[in-house]
Amino acid sequence: MGKLIYMDNGATSFPKPPEVYDFMDHFYRNFGVNPGRSGYDLCVETGELVETTRKMLTRFFNGADPNRLCFSYNSTDALNLIIFGMLKPGDHAVTTTLEHNSVLRPLYHLSRAGVEIDYVPFDKSGFVDPDDFPKRFKKNTKLVVINHASNVIGTVQPIKEIGRRCREHGVPFAIDASQSAGKVPIDIEDAFVDVVAFTGHKSLLGPTGIGGLYVREGIEIRFTRAGGTGVRSAVRTHLEEYPYRLEYGTLNILGVAGLHAGLRWILDRGLESVHQHETKLATKLRDGLKGIDSVTMYCQDDLANHISVLPFNVTGMEAMNVGTILDVDHNIACRTGLHCAPLVHEGLGTDKVHGAVRFGIGPFNTEGHVDTAIGAVREIAEMAARRNK
Ligand code: ALA
Repeated sequence: MGKLIYMDNGATSFPKPPEVYDFMDHFYRNFGVNPGRSGYDLCVETGELVETTRKMLTRFFNGADPNRLCFSYNSTDALNLIIFGMLKPGDHAVTTTLEHNSVLRPLYHLSRAGVEIDYVPFDKSGFVDPDDFPKRFKKNTKLVVINHASNVIGTVQPIKEIGRRCREHGVPFAIDASQSAGKVPIDIEDAFVDVVAFTGHKSLLGPTGIGGLYVREGIEIRFTRAGGTGVRSAVRTHLEEYPYRLEYGTLNILGVAGLHAGLRWILDRGLESVHQHETKLATKLRDGLKGIDSVTMYCQDDLANHISVLPFNVTGMEAMNVGTILDVDHNIACRTGLHCAPLVHEGLGTDKVHGAVRFGIGPFNTEGHVDTAIGAVREIAEMAARRNK
């Protein structure tokens, strides 16, 4: 059997660009000390990479102040800081049924503590209606938090239209950019976004264990953790000022280095050209899969406002079994099941069949990969049809 065809880029991008591995190795061998803790040259130089990366990410999201770009371990970590730091008992929050458990579970926990949650549903095309948000606003609405791009159906939500409505009503607006950052442009000023949470290991092409959030000026997030910051050690509380406010303990500098190199790779090539390559392959894959009898696709005909994840099912065979055959017989990696987003599957009706199969295209996938994947699914569909006769 040939080399693994990795089509699980919605879970994490793999492989990373060679430049990411090289830079991480070089950086950690030569600068692997604790930044911001001491004044010796190496420590200062290590800190410089951290600050440069903060600036790059701030520019990337069109933020204004690099100090308000805080590093976290991933977007779940950032979303926990946001959700637990912005809501308290008696508050009301609005979210959507497109959310990943990184948003849903913190909200479920808070709902048990007296936070009221409203869920805006998505329509048949996989989009939420911006006008659905203000209808749900109340005096105590303290946060709108939404998934920018669905990790299941790939739809990119109209954040500018939602953000505008939030801003008009004075409700802070946070987006989960786990899947979108590195795939589609995010301009927080233009889209009226107050807080963006992102991860480094997906489309930003860095390693796992690094992510972050950008918090617009005027938005305050209470700190829900406390610890070392490397500065003003005698103060007996956690520090109020950003970025320390939302950073705790030694940063994952190896992760920052990888994220730096991943972002640099994207910026050098241009976000648009990386996205175009993936959309072209996703379109070919979608067309190929749609042409197979007994394959049901859960994506639209128009992939314009989509990222390149494609969910589908084969009639008569559970998603998990399709995934196993793709792996064992065809050496193709994908993700099956509910994708940590159970409400999306409820909306699609696929919760009743234990979810769907998802292909996720990345920058290193090729037309050949797509052809092989289509052929493999065709074979599986024929096998399922024979078995079910
Ligand atoms: N959230 C990741 C996914 O969708 C892990 O697969």
